[in-house]
Amino acid sequence: HDAAVARGKLYFGTASDWWEFQHDEPYTKQLNNTHDFGQLTALATMKMDAIQPERGIFNFTGGDTLANLASANGQHLRCHSTVWHLSTPSWVTAGNFDNDTLVEILKDHINRTVSHYKGRCYAWDVVNEALDVNGGWRESVWYNTIGPAYLPIAFATAAQVDPGAKLYYNDFGIELPSPKATAAQNIVKLIKSYGVRIDGVGIQAHTDLSGMPPEAHFELGSSPSYDETVAVMKQFVALGVEVAITELDASIITPSNSASLAMQADAYYNFTAACLTVKECVGITIWDWTDKYTWVPSTFPDLGDALPWDKDFLKKPAYNGIMKAFETF
Ligand code: G3I
Repeated sequence: HDAAVARGKLYFGTASDWWEFQHDEPYTKQLNNTHDFGQLTALATMKMDAIQPERGIFNFTGGDTLANLASANGQHLRCHSTVWHLSTPSWVTAGNFDNDTLVEILKDHINRTVSHYKGRCYAWDVVNEALDVNGGWRESVWYNTIGPAYLPIAFATAAQVDPGAKLYYNDFGIELPSPKATAAQNIVKLIKSYGVRIDGVGIQAHTDLSGMPPEAHFELGSSPSYDETVAVMKQFVALGVEVAITELDASIITPSNSASLAMQADAYYNFTAACLTVKECVGITIWDWTDKYTWVPSTFPDLGDALPWDKDFLKKPAYNGIMKAFETF
């Protein structure tokens, strides 16, 4: 984080969740190391299924724990995410609500959630992953019932509640010029066409270094070059938004070896260098920091070891890749 700020960035940060640091002291100690992490994101506890598991029942405990940690440390807080198809609670997906009712549910959830954290979030990922891997609209109860208008409605609601939070659209597979990146640019244009505020695009940068065909690990992006990431960042910035790398990790086939760890170091170097090259890239967030808690193997058992610190909290070549980019750019 200190190196990022020294180069004019707002932060270098990590994602975490309260259950991880409730029982792992050495983990918590590193999470509080503000020289390394100047920003925190909740992995899961600020999502709709965690906050409103039943209609009208709001529970902010988990998110508050991380938000309070960030406040205590003077770390920026990225708030993630009010609308995501995979964190929509079953009372919504199975509710068979009509358009007007679902719009009210959407607005009420965003009103209550963004109000609760008002003034504390550097940014909200208002909508996460509205696109499928080919850049088409992703099927969800929100899209299927309301249509694409759910996006401007969500952003307009958040904008009304917290004028101080930057409002982001967040997705994966947009780390390089692609039909999906173009579709994400069209989302920015769509929201702006309604006269609604959108301030940024979150480039998740979940990266698959396995060399397998993309469909093998459908939820991960490809491993782009430095030039490709700079190019796509500039395409977003040209639309009048900032960008951030929001969920960086680089998955390799486990167990790792010196070759895969070196390839991983290159990926971290390239993403860090791209963000340092594009002025409007405000910061980088890794998606947790230690292989001990990476989400990847729980979804893709053949992959893992995706982060800059290993499961024993020792720095890996990936950490050196990040630092080399800070020293070079
Ligand atoms: O809070 C419970 C805790 O009480 C329990 O002890 C622990 C172990 O069972 O689980 C904890 O909750 C889990 C939470 O992660 C902890 O961080 C949830 O069960 C689990 O569903 C949740 O998964 C998260 C997932 O999103 C769904 O919210 C992953 O950590 C997180 O990495 C993943 O992140 C997504 C981004 O939001 C969007 N982009 C893709 C990315 C990876 O799928």
